[in-house]
Amino acid sequence: MKKKFTIAFVVVVLSFVVIMAHDKVFSLSKNNEKNDNYLTLKEKLKILGNINEKIDYFNTDYIDRYIKYKSTHPNKSNSNIVLEVNIGLDQEFYTNIKKSSNVDTTFVLVNKFNYLDEDYIPSKLETIDANYSLGEKKLVNVARISFEFLAKKAKEDGYNIRAVSTYRSYDYQTTLYNNYAKEDGVNNADQYSARPGFSEHQTGLAVDIDNVDNDYMHFENTTEFTWMQENAYKYGFILRYPKDKEYITGYTYEPWHYRYVGVDIASFIYKNKITYEEYYAKYIMK
Ligand code: DAL
Ligand code: ZN
Repeated sequence: MKKKFTIAFVVVVLSFVVIMAHDKVFSLSKNNEKNDNYLTLKEKLKILGNINEKIDYFNTDYIDRYIKYKSTHPNKSNSNIVLEVNIGLDQEFYTNIKKSSNVDTTFVLVNKFNYLDEDYIPSKLETIDANYSLGEKKLVNVARISFEFLAKKAKEDGYNIRAVSTYRSYDYQTTLYNNYAKEDGVNNADQYSARPGFSEHQTGLAVDIDNVDNDYMHFENTTEFTWMQENAYKYGFILRYPKDKEYITGYTYEPWHYRYVGVDIASFIYKNKITYEEYYAKYIMK
């Protein structure tokens, strides 16, 4: 009788312990869920090591994205966490897209997160001097003048620089992209051709270059390319899709594609070996 009572007592106590433990675990996980949603700004900043005090392009609006990106990329530095989220790299390309700001200025950023309207046509489009272009090619006034200076100086140095693709309308980009996608598949086309509205060529500030004797695809192997590498920034142009920066720009290396950003910004980007996305996120976005 006593033995039976002892067994019953032990069973009751064990059941109680199991129920309590379950409740405790359950309430802890509930609390965690709650904590993620209800952490104060101060607590969130603490999780990030108060990096806001050291990084002046830190944006409080993105704090949850910084925390999430940091948890999935623990080896990235804090400054890269903030920079990459500001660029939008915590999201897939062509998601979370927004209309480009600073349209009709030399600061405009057009990439796989920032687009131009279908009916956007830059003001002050002007035709490039025929000596420096293949057929009639247009750029926005300031870019047109700077490109002609650049090509003229190159000529004096013994190099032939000419524009083969410059301003492209939304409709023309649609035709180009659709043809590539049809021939090569969407995934491949997306590596080298912008979807309509997402091409920098629609800004009238981008120019594809070749050297007269070659196809632009082989521009990298020409002495003109070497000249461009050393001189383009002096005229306000940057190599827009550099090697090893594909994860930022969203495009494979394009030695022929240059973008006008003005001499000061081009010099900074050249000296610091960064992309326009990085420059924009650090110095223009806020
Ligand atoms: N090839 C560049 C990325 C464009 O299509 O605009
Ligand atoms: Zn181009």
